[in-house]
Amino acid sequence: MQKRSLVIANWKMYIESPEVARAWVAKVGRAKKDAEVWAAVPAPFIPLFAKSALSVGAQTVSRLDAAHHAHTGEVSATMVKNSGASFTLVGHSERRAAGDTNEAVHAQFAAALKAGLTVVLCVGEQARSQDGAHFTYIEEQLRSAFAGAQSLAKKVAVAYEPVWAIGKSAEHAMKPPQIEETVIFIRKVLAEVLGRTAALKVPVLYGGSVEPANAHALRYEGGVGGFLIGHASASPEEFLEIVKQCKG
Ligand code: PGA
Repeated sequence: MQKRSLVIANWKMYIESPEVARAWVAKVGRAKKDAEVWAAVPAPFIPLFAKSALSVGAQTVSRLDAAHHAHTGEVSATMVKNSGASFTLVGHSERRAAGDTNEAVHAQFAAALKAGLTVVLCVGEQARSQDGAHFTYIEEQLRSAFAGAQSLAKKVAVAYEPVWAIGKSAEHAMKPPQIEETVIFIRKVLAEVLGRTAALKVPVLYGGSVEPANAHALRYEGGVGGFLIGHASASPEEFLEIVKQCKG
């Protein structure tokens, strides 16, 4: 199982200019880091990481591949890879809310793995329910993404992001015991889908209102391998503070 924390910045659309993006890369790239740091950025900014030691990735990829040239506006996994990215997010809840079904996420997942990218598969329920229906929801998201793609799934991380906890502030994040319980559930499903040995190699991250104030407790009491950070990653200082909290 991974030991060093994996902390991924998810810029979403918070950073819009190349100047601000370059300053972020310089600052975070130069800092001494106590965890492994990746950044999921809008596609036009991927090349800005070329000279940095940071791993850069996309926030989604097209489900279509090189055999489908005539699709205006799509960005394929191969293009993302050829632009210098090593990974991509797929299935982020904001993409799902924009229309990506489990079937579409599966196609993106397979396309990204085939192109040689590591995939950070995002899963998470809209709401929690007393009868535990949220577990079935998460299980379906996991199983449908991996279905038939297990042999490709050598380089995968799962980011658990309960939709109701995203984009708020530290006190609204999920509490560590609930995170731990869900991570155990995700690990159980991964073991069924991939086999125990392969499943143990998959980092399981948490995302949803992680800030410097709660990062340490969430990381070490929640039993996660690291984080996917949204709004707090837009500021290099705040992001680096979270990274510091994840020192092993
Ligand atoms: P947040 O976003 O940190 O702003 O809650 C996390 C995410 O959506 O990846």
